[in-house]
Amino acid sequence: MTRALVFDSGVGGLTIADALRRAAPEWVVDYAADSGFFPYGVKTDEELRERLPRLCATLADVAKPDVLVIACNTASTLSLADIRAHVGVPVVGTVPAIKPAAALTKTGVIGILATPGTVRRAYLDDLEREFAAGKTVIRRGSAGLVDIAERAVRGQAIDQEQVAYAVKPLFDPPDGPRIDVVVLACTHFPLIREAIAAACPPSVALIDTGEAVARQAVRVVTNPVATAGEAVAYVTGGAANRAAMQPAFARFGYHAIEIIDV
Ligand code: DGL
Repeated sequence: MTRALVFDSGVGGLTIADALRRAAPEWVVDYAADSGFFPYGVKTDEELRERLPRLCATLADVAKPDVLVIACNTASTLSLADIRAHVGVPVVGTVPAIKPAAALTKTGVIGILATPGTVRRAYLDDLEREFAAGKTVIRRGSAGLVDIAERAVRGQAIDQEQVAYAVKPLFDPPDGPRIDVVVLACTHFPLIREAIAAACPPSVALIDTGEAVARQAVRVVTNPVATAGEAVAYVTGGAANRAAMQPAFARFGYHAIEIIDV
């Protein structure tokens, strides 16, 4: 039996959990949402550096997965190495799909939609240098889109005007109108893909990392030892967050919800 634990600040990682279930239908895919500390995109680097390795070590102790998937760009681009040093199972991260975007663009102009935290990461500079040399990369960080996605999955209607307002600045710089590929560099964004697509010019392609992360998770598990049992969703922040997350978890097939205190 193979178990994976997919971790995010909120509901965004459910897109990765879905991709993993498609890639490995026989696996049990547990989920953890750090709802008590959501959203990550506006937290300082220090706050996240202090919390993430500790939280992930606790989650891995409780869930005992064969692989831990950090289904969060904001966390992965800051703390992946640190988390790996604290967790005794393979850890797979989620980072912006700059390489496939660079291969896909015809105009040479790529847009990146992410959290305010991810857009200022040195990790992103490195990815650009390595995989998008000679291309123009325009970044837009939006905490508003994260919030819209989180609320949509919990059952609220999507306000298309708010989405358009959040996306528009990506296309405002002089090269903005030439963007033909937009990287959804936050796992929350594929949850509102249609609304984001409607806010972009029709010629723009949207890409994300769900399937690539799922494939990598399958690749790194070589000797599964986890025990069988129903998939569990873990949540931080107490009973109020458990109640708030319940509709989102139910939509993605999670009925057993456990509170973790970190
Ligand atoms: N889903 C997360 C990401 O991929 C972050 C959302 C947030 O907590 O701000 O970046």
